[in-house]
Amino acid sequence: MNFPCLSIIVVFHSQGKGTLSDLMHKIVSLCKRRGFIFPSSEIYGGLKSAYDFGPVGVELKRNIAHCWWEQMVHSRDDVVGCDASIIMHPKVWQASGHVQGFCDPLVDCLNCKQRFRADKVPRQPVGTTVSYVRGGGKKGERLQGQVADCGYVCPYCGAPTLSAERRFNLMFQSNLGPIDPREELLHAIMHDDTLTLAEVRNRVQQLDRSSTVYLRPETAQALFVQFINIMQTTGQKIPFGIAQIGKSFRNEIVTEHFIFRSCEFEQMELEYFIAPDNWQEQLEYWKTQRLSWYLALANNAASFRLRQHEHAELAHYAQDCYDVEFLFPWGWDELEGIASRGDYDLRCHRQATGAKLSYFDPHKVEAETGKQGVRYMPYVIEPSAGLTRAVLALLLDAYREDKGTDHQGREKLRVFLQLHPCLAPYKAAVLPLIKNDAQQVELARRIARDLKKRQLYVCYDDNQSIGKRYARHDEIGTPFCITIDAQSLADETVTWRERDTTSQQRVAGAALADKIAAALVLSV
Ligand code: GAP
Repeated sequence: MNFPCLSIIVVFHSQGKGTLSDLMHKIVSLCKRRGFIFPSSEIYGGLKSAYDFGPVGVELKRNIAHCWWEQMVHSRDDVVGCDASIIMHPKVWQASGHVQGFCDPLVDCLNCKQRFRADKVPRQPVGTTVSYVRGGGKKGERLQGQVADCGYVCPYCGAPTLSAERRFNLMFQSNLGPIDPREELLHAIMHDDTLTLAEVRNRVQQLDRSSTVYLRPETAQALFVQFINIMQTTGQKIPFGIAQIGKSFRNEIVTEHFIFRSCEFEQMELEYFIAPDNWQEQLEYWKTQRLSWYLALANNAASFRLRQHEHAELAHYAQDCYDVEFLFPWGWDELEGIASRGDYDLRCHRQATGAKLSYFDPHKVEAETGKQGVRYMPYVIEPSAGLTRAVLALLLDAYREDKGTDHQGREKLRVFLQLHPCLAPYKAAVLPLIKNDAQQVELARRIARDLKKRQLYVCYDDNQSIGKRYARHDEIGTPFCITIDAQSLADETVTWRERDTTSQQRVAGAALADKIAAALVLSV
C-alpha cells in the first residue's frame, strides 16, 4: 500500500474536544484489535477496570520501564535498584499512616444508589435548585432539590440527595497463613449459640487483626524500610537514591479512562535521600529531569507540562510537590508526582521500630558549634511515576492518521503509531515478499534470527499480503519493515520501509543491524 500524495497527518492534540474523545475510543479499539491491551477475564464477562497486556502491550510497557531504569539507575552512579515484596509487615502500613489515612471520601447517592468520590465531583453553589429523575433513569418522574452544604450533586444522576461523606480506605486486605479467619468464626458461631452480636463482632476484629496483611498501595515504603540495608551493602553516601518498578494495588472507588485509573497498576518510583538543607535545589533538579524524560520519548512537547501543587493539595508531610501532567482527551491529568517528603517516612519507621535510620556525615560542620561531623535524618525527594499511565499517554501521543490515496486513487486512511523506536514493541518486521517462495522465506528467517542475536527484537511475518503486513506494523508502531524479494536472493539487499514516511529504499542486508540500533538511541 502506498500513500503518495495529499498526505495530511492528523495530530490529535491540536484538534477540538470532540475529536479528542474520539481519539480515546480509537486507542481502546486499536489496543484490543492489535493485541496491546485486553479486558481482563473477558470470556467471563470481564472484571471491572482490570486489564491484561497482550503480546505487543507487554513489550511497550517493558520498553518504557527499561528506558526509565536506564535513565534513573544505569546511567547514574548515585542510584541503585530494589525489587521488594508486595506483601510487607502490616506494621509498615500502620507506621506510614496508610492504615489510618490512605482514604478517599466515599458518598452514596440515595437516588440512583451509585457511589462516587466526593473530592472528584464538580462544585456547585449551595442552595442552587437542580432537577433530576427519580431512580436515576433517563425517563420518569422529574424531581427538584437543592444543593446541600457539601456543595455538589451526584455525578451520575444529578440528585442532591446524598449520604454523608465517609472515609474509605483504599488498601486491599488479605490474610497471611493457612488459617481462614472466616472459617474459624463460622465454626464458633455454629457451636456456641450463647454468642452475642457484640461478641461476634469482637471475634471478627480479633481474628482479622491477627493475620491481616495488605497489598502495597505504593512501591515507595519498601525503599524507606530497606534504606539502611541498601546504604550499608552498596557504600552509597548521601545524596543517593533507591529505585523500584513494580505493581501497586488500590481499591479505587471510581476506576476510569481505560487504564488511567485502575485497581492494579505499576509504578516507577525513586526515593532520593538528601541532606535537609538543599531540598529546594534537589526538587528543582528532579522536576526538570523528569519532564525531560517524557519529552525525549514523546512527539508533542505541548502535551506535557509541570504543575506545582496548591498549598491545600499538598500531603501533610510534603513541603512542595510538582506533577508532570499530560493533556489527556478529558483534559490535563497527572502522570507523575515529584514531591519533597522531608524526613517524614524515615522518622515514622524509626519511631515504630527503633531502627537507626539516621545518617552520619563526617564532613559536614555543625553550624552552631562548629563541630565536624553531623548526624541527621535524611530528607527525601520522590519522583513517583505511573508506568501504566505512561503507556496510555505515550499511545495517545503516538497515534497518527495519515489521509491519502492508494495507487488506484481511492481515499485511504493510514493509521500508525509514531512511537520512538526504543519504545516500539518490535524494532523491525522482516517480511518475505512472497511467502510461498522457499528461498525468500529462508533468507528472511535468517535475517530475523541474526538481528535477534544482536539483541534487536524483530518480528518475522509472512501472514497476509505485503500491504496488510505494512498496515499491521504501522498500527503497532514497528518503525521499519524489511522486505526480502527476488533481488535480495541475488545481491542480499532488502527494501527498507520507514513507518513515519512510508519511504522505501534499497539497503544492504549487512547494514541492517547498525541502522536499527542507531534509531534506538534516546537522547534525554
Ligand atoms: N509514593 C507516592 C505515590 O504513590 P501517587 O501520586 O499516589 O504517589 C504516583 O502515585 C503515581 O502512580 C501517579 O502519578 C500515577 O501515575 C500512578 N497511579 C496512582 N494511582 C493509580 C491508579 N489507580 N491507576 C493507575 N495509576 C495510578
